[in-house]
Amino acid sequence: MDVIRVTGGARLAGDVAAVGAKNSALKLMAATLLAPGRSVIGNVPLITDIAVMAEVLRRLGCQVEMAGDRVAVTAPEQPGTDAAYDLVRQLRASICVLGPLLARCGYARVAHPGGDAIGSRGLDLHVAGLTRMGAEVTGEHGYVIASAPGGLRGASIWLDFPSVGATENLLMAAVLARGVTEIDNAAREPEIVDLCAMLTGMGARISGAGSSRLEVAGVPTLRPVQHACVGDRIVAGTWAFGAAMTRGDVTVTGVDPRFIEIALDKLVLAGCLVETGVQSLRVRMDRRPDAVDVVTLPFPGFATDLLPMAIALAAVSDGSSLVTENIFDGRFMFINEMARLGAQIQTDGHHAVVRGRERLSSAPVRATDIRAGAGLVMAALCTDGVTEISGVHHIDRGYPDVVPDLRRLGATVERAVVPDAPAISLAPLRPAGPAGPGGLAGPGGLAGPGGLAGPGGAAGPGGAAGPGGAAPGQ
Ligand code: UD1
Repeated sequence: MDVIRVTGGARLAGDVAAVGAKNSALKLMAATLLAPGRSVIGNVPLITDIAVMAEVLRRLGCQVEMAGDRVAVTAPEQPGTDAAYDLVRQLRASICVLGPLLARCGYARVAHPGGDAIGSRGLDLHVAGLTRMGAEVTGEHGYVIASAPGGLRGASIWLDFPSVGATENLLMAAVLARGVTEIDNAAREPEIVDLCAMLTGMGARISGAGSSRLEVAGVPTLRPVQHACVGDRIVAGTWAFGAAMTRGDVTVTGVDPRFIEIALDKLVLAGCLVETGVQSLRVRMDRRPDAVDVVTLPFPGFATDLLPMAIALAAVSDGSSLVTENIFDGRFMFINEMARLGAQIQTDGHHAVVRGRERLSSAPVRATDIRAGAGLVMAALCTDGVTEISGVHHIDRGYPDVVPDLRRLGATVERAVVPDAPAISLAPLRPAGPAGPGGLAGPGGLAGPGGLAGPGGAAGPGGAAGPGGAAPGQ
């Protein structure tokens, strides 16, 4: 398996470019389904999720070419209507093909993506909105099945919560619906604004992008488009927090700093000097950060995807921070990994209290999701030794060049391949051979308490495992 080894103590300094926003690019790719012909999206990050979405589109009959940071999608006159579980389970964002397919074909069958490592993620708002637009939506055998044989019609929709995914799906359904659709309490994230810009370029009629009320006048057809994806505010925020934590000086380019205004304001409160340009931001810090409280909220609030970075900052700040998560019920699942680095964190429901320490303590840790992984990398920079982070495939999903970027900024970091932990077999527990005298197991035998397991054996409490076994606590 791949690991990232980070040596603590570096100060991040220099320039780094934010890639195109993953959370925008994936939705823009889905939007290409809305118009037959060849659309081209630029500034796309080179990450696995993009390759998975390309495969989702290919299976729907599109031709997809990827070259550098450009993705060209040629959508057919008659796309397929099925997005299967084997792909959708790898990429929750693939649920956003539901709206475009329903709009184009009057029918779509998309696997239910289920929850993921940051908690449950419902679809009720997607379903309620599409139903108001005249679709019949059911769930069967793990699939969401939506049909509107006579086409979708404009409707007034009120979202109970400004869900990003529901806003995107409803927007992409509404652009080809008959009549006007109003979406109230819509999400206002920059990625929604980016999607509206691309749809408008395709000939859609949308007003209110970036506000909580979107108005869409449906048109009969759309045309292909060329569009450049917006910069990734979460990647930019990750570097900004990294600079603050390592008493560094980092300039991030390729992103509008207004996208993370509240996060940057928190860094100012922590003691950083923050300068912003049109498409850049610079964060400088020359001392230990002061503790600041953080509450995640839909945009323009503090982004939930930056919560792990806020926890990492709090872990090395002077004082105690109260961090509140309001979007995902499982966002704190990575806290145990932070605790392995010596972070002092107590959680209660959707609150975490973090008592800052001057320095963290290096340890092997595992990334449980993209942003948790990034938070662990930043925390590892503030440890007293070498931290080995596994679960790197999660980090790769959001940060295509994290190791070269960190090196350029002055960190000592490497990517390495280490052998997977050996699988523990039940075979030794089966009554193959009796244990030898003194509790010492023969090959395949079971050691008693305090005993020593033979090859492939499992040690009892307090015992040491032989090759292929596992000692308690490892
Ligand atoms: C969310 C984030 C988005 C981030 C993305 C990737 C918010 C509001 N959304 O978008 O900023 O870029 O993850 O990590 O910060 N929900 C329902 N029913 C629905 C839809 C959503 O209950 O039909 C709930 C979800 O379970 C979740 C919350 O609403 O608790 C946010 O969902 P949503 O904004 O749709 O999630 P994403 O689109 O994944």
